[in-house]
Amino acid sequence: MKVLLVFAHPEQRSLNAALRDVAIKELETQGHEVRVSDLYADSWKPHVDRADFPLLTQDARFIPVAASKDAFAADSLTEDVRAEIEKLLWADILILQFPLWWFSMPAILKGWVDRVFAYGFAYGVGEHSDKRWGDRYGEGTLAGRRAMLIVTAGGWEEHYAARGVNGPIDDLLFPINHGILYYPGYDVLPPFVVYRVDRLDEADFEPIARHLRERMRTLATTPPIPYRQQNGGDYLIPSMQLRPDLGDPGATGVALHVDGGEASRAKRDEVAYG
Ligand SMILES: Cc1cc2nc3c(=O)[nH]c(=O)nc-3n(C[C@H](O)[C@H](O)[C@H](O)COP(=O)(O)O)c2cc1C
Repeated sequence: MKVLLVFAHPEQRSLNAALRDVAIKELETQGHEVRVSDLYADSWKPHVDRADFPLLTQDARFIPVAASKDAFAADSLTEDVRAEIEKLLWADILILQFPLWWFSMPAILKGWVDRVFAYGFAYGVGEHSDKRWGDRYGEGTLAGRRAMLIVTAGGWEEHYAARGVNGPIDDLLFPINHGILYYPGYDVLPPFVVYRVDRLDEADFEPIARHLRERMRTLATTPPIPYRQQNGGDYLIPSMQLRPDLGDPGATGVALHVDGGEASRAKRDEVAYG
């Protein structure tokens, strides 16, 4: 299999870099081909602006969605963005790796998504009708491929549990897993999250590395998060509301969009915390 790892950490001696190297080594040992986009090392340009769209005339108003659509259709996106799109189309599996910064990804990685996930490639794909609302959420350009996150967090695992003060980790990662990865079609695997990392010592590293190696060995077989397919009949069109007979009665929020989401979260917490 071909694996693209997009790495967002500024320091090569960090825990993240050490985990990245463990992952790459295991993947290569398994015979997979690995490519890495090391965003800080590559001085990735993190912001969207007019310079991303060379065909835009100087006096034209810059409308990012329209510029993205036109540039993708005309194959005139900048070389750095085209190279990343080519890697995404090459890879069977995409891994995004980053430290949790302010409950999300570092800005450089968000900027990679903003620039690379172009209109016509990652969104604005497919036709709308009374039966379909475009090709997204389980369908789209990247359907049939897999994606997962490798995340390190300073906070305790309990603090990210269903009733933890930080909010459940699955909810915090939902905009990335569902909104960025599932949206253009990826099957999204459960994330590999390491907690309480700021006080790790040498002895703590090996069990984490062992678990990560195991996750790398099972990339092809791990069941994806069972997000509901948009066009699979679970949602009303065009309101895009979950059908009233699905999900727990009265439930709201992001867990609704996982088939069996509320139950599976409760079960996970029960296993972890009794
Ligand atoms: C700007 C910044 C924001 C952070 N925000 C969070 C956060 O929201 N939640 C959390 O658990 N840890 C947070 N942390 C801690 C980092 O997640 C932690 O230091 C990192 O995962 C350690 O990995 P590293 O040694 O590879 O840098 C933050 C750290 C920084 C520098």
